[in-house]
Amino acid sequence: MKAMDYRGPYRVRLKDKPMPKIEHPRDAIVRVTRSCICGSDLHLYHGYVPDTRIGMTFGHEFTGVVEEVGPEVENLKAGDHVLVPFNIACGQCHFCKQGLFGNCHEVNPQATAVGGIFGYSHTAGGYEGGQAEYVRVPYADVGPTVIPDWMDPDDAVLLTDVVPTGYQAAEMAGIRKGDTVVIFGAGPIGIMAARCAWLFGAGRVIVFDYLEYRLDFAREYGPAEVYNFKEIDDVVVFMKKTTDGLGADGAIDAVGLEASGNSWQTVMGRKLLLTSGSAIALHWAINSVKKGGIVSIVGVYGPTGNLVPIGNVVNKGITLRANQASVKRLLPRLIEHVKNGHIEPKKLITHKVPLDDVADAYHIFSRKLDNCIKPVLLPAGA
Ligand SMILES: NC(=O)c1ccc[n+]([C@@H]2O[C@H](COP(=O)([O-])OP(=O)(O)OC[C@H]3O[C@@H](n4cnc5c(N)ncnc54)[C@H](O)[C@@H]3O)[C@@H](O)[C@H]2O)c1
Ligand SMILES: [Zn+2]
Ligand SMILES: [Zn+2]
Repeated sequence: MKAMDYRGPYRVRLKDKPMPKIEHPRDAIVRVTRSCICGSDLHLYHGYVPDTRIGMTFGHEFTGVVEEVGPEVENLKAGDHVLVPFNIACGQCHFCKQGLFGNCHEVNPQATAVGGIFGYSHTAGGYEGGQAEYVRVPYADVGPTVIPDWMDPDDAVLLTDVVPTGYQAAEMAGIRKGDTVVIFGAGPIGIMAARCAWLFGAGRVIVFDYLEYRLDFAREYGPAEVYNFKEIDDVVVFMKKTTDGLGADGAIDAVGLEASGNSWQTVMGRKLLLTSGSAIALHWAINSVKKGGIVSIVGVYGPTGNLVPIGNVVNKGITLRANQASVKRLLPRLIEHVKNGHIEPKKLITHKVPLDDVADAYHIFSRKLDNCIKPVLLPAGA
């Protein structure tokens, strides 16, 4: 079968790989119908995630048709069209029982923090991903969800990560009626967080980025008040001024470790690798939320070693909330939101690219070319 193949930073290609097989009674084999590239894949592609091995297939946002199930998978059958949450989770451990499917304790022998994620390096379990014609889905009795008849597969594929992550970002920000929420990052995650902030009762939603085409998109889709941080002297002062000197009630970091906007952080964290990435969006979030406010972090950070103004967290009495999204926990609610039109996921898809052209798709998304918001890969015959 054909699959995306990682060759080192900024180098991916299409390769023939062996067909995946059932390896455990709770596995399923899925023929992929849609597979997105995520901002998280860019951290792998740019070489910032440790233990990303040559030869790995990325891809944690996919839908597909069940080809075969192991003997212990009773809730799925061959022919079912499913959406597959990006988290791999056992469904039975201490954490899964609390709905913390992103923190499953049984699926990743390499780490006790993150659980398992498809195609996300050996730090997330070393599972092969879905940017391929076929993929093995472990614990298939837990994650995969049959796509409702009425749902467009383009909407379904965004329910595997973007929608739940944006929603959880807003949920973790503890939004109360009328709150002002500031979101850093107008990628798919920040845009979706802006849309979801309204569902929690926000009164004002502000989004920062520096890519004008993404700010335009966020302004329309959120809707949101948008600002280009490169045109503002000091983002934190600006945020104070626009909130009566207090700061936002909640702030969301939807950027993560590759943030721009501060040359010192860029050199330390992205060029010399003396710290693990640039945490400038997180700085801005902490410093522009008001005292007693909440900072919600969904942007991905690697291991320890970031420069974060933790003293300000203490002195302002800020609550930090963060996690990988718990897709499975949120799906029932989000499917309802899609059904009643409160969330229109597929509007974010700007590029549909044949899997054969996976290298081009990475290039376009990574360089933010051609007004790209969200690319989807289509295997032949999908
Ligand atoms: N926690 C989770 O479950 C989860 C799930 C999916 C994605 N993520 C993470 O969320 C983040 C965003 O994902 P995405 O797909 O939207 O990525 P993306 O790369 O498409 O978007 C990131 C955006 O941030 C902007 N940006 C850079 N520096 C900034 C700054 N200082 N302030 C404001 N904006 C800035 C970029 O211009 C870009 O538009 C990534 O770190 C990704 O790994 C987390
Ligand atoms: Zn993703
Ligand atoms: Zn578990």
